[in-house]
Amino acid sequence: MGSYPLEKFVAVAEGAAREAGQFIRAELGRVRAEQVLEKEKNSLVSYVDIETERMLADALRPLLPGAGFLTEESTQALHSDSDYCWIIDPLDGTTNFLKGIPVFSVSIALAFRMEPIMGVVYDVMQEEAFTAWQDGGAHLNGRRISVSDVGQLDDAIVATGFPYKAGYRPQLSEIFTEVLHHSRGIRRLGSAALDLAYTAAGRFDAYYETRLNAWDIAAGILIVREAGGRASNFRNASGGILRAHHVMASNGLVHDELLQLVSKAPLDD
Ligand code: IPD
Ligand code: CA
Ligand code: CA
Repeated sequence: MGSYPLEKFVAVAEGAAREAGQFIRAELGRVRAEQVLEKEKNSLVSYVDIETERMLADALRPLLPGAGFLTEESTQALHSDSDYCWIIDPLDGTTNFLKGIPVFSVSIALAFRMEPIMGVVYDVMQEEAFTAWQDGGAHLNGRRISVSDVGQLDDAIVATGFPYKAGYRPQLSEIFTEVLHHSRGIRRLGSAALDLAYTAAGRFDAYYETRLNAWDIAAGILIVREAGGRASNFRNASGGILRAHHVMASNGLVHDELLQLVSKAPLDD
C-alpha cells in the first residue's frame, strides 16, 4: 500500500459530505412522488441520491487519479485495475429521507484491495461527521470517540435492520426474537452507516444486519475498528467483510455472545 495522506483525504471527504448535506437538507420534503423510482421492490431512489453521488465523486476524483468507484447509484465507472476504490453511498437511509424521517447519512470510504482504510459517515440532519483513517483513531466532529464498555449482551443496546426483499425476512425473525430476549433493547434507525457510526461512538453496543452492500458498511466498519470495536461477518471472519452481505459490529466485549445468536442465521453466502 502506498503512503497516501489519509488524514488529508478524510478532511476532503468530510468537506464534500458536508457540502452534499446542504443540498440534501435543501431537498428534504421537496421530492415529488413522480420523481421517485423503485429500483426493485421497496428500494427507492430519486434525483437527490444521484446528484449527491455526482457531487461526491467530483470532489474525490482528483485526490487519487485512477482509483475505482463503487457507488450505489453507479453513476461512476469502476476501474477494476486499481487497488484503490472509493466506496460511496450518497444517501444511506433513502426511505427515511423520502418519508421526512430525519435520519439519513452520507457514507464515503476509501478501500485498498477491498479493505476500508478511511471512512466518513455524515449524519445530515444532526451535522455529525464520524471519521476515521487506518491507525488514526475515530473522531466525531474532530473529537476522539470510542466504543462502549458494556460487558454483557444482557445490558446492551443492539441495532439492526431488515432487508428490502420481504422473502429474506422470515429467516431473520428467529434471530431478532433471540436478540430481543438476550439484550436490553433493539433499535432500527434505517441507515446502516449510522448504525455502525453509533456503535463506534458507544451509543449502540452492537449491530447486526444481512443483505447489505459494500457501500452501506465500508466507512462505518473502519470507524468501528478505529474506535476500538470489532467488526466481522456472521461467521466471525473479519477479512473480506465487504463481500459478505452480512455484518456485525460491536464494542468487542459483547461480540462473541451476539455472534452465537446471529451465527444461527441460514445464510446463502
Ligand atoms: C439501506 C439502509 C438501511 C438498511 C438497508 C439499506 P439505502 O440503505 O442502510 O438501514 O436496512 O438494508 O439498503 O437504500 O437507504 O441506501
Ligand atoms: Ca445504503
Ligand atoms: Ca443509498
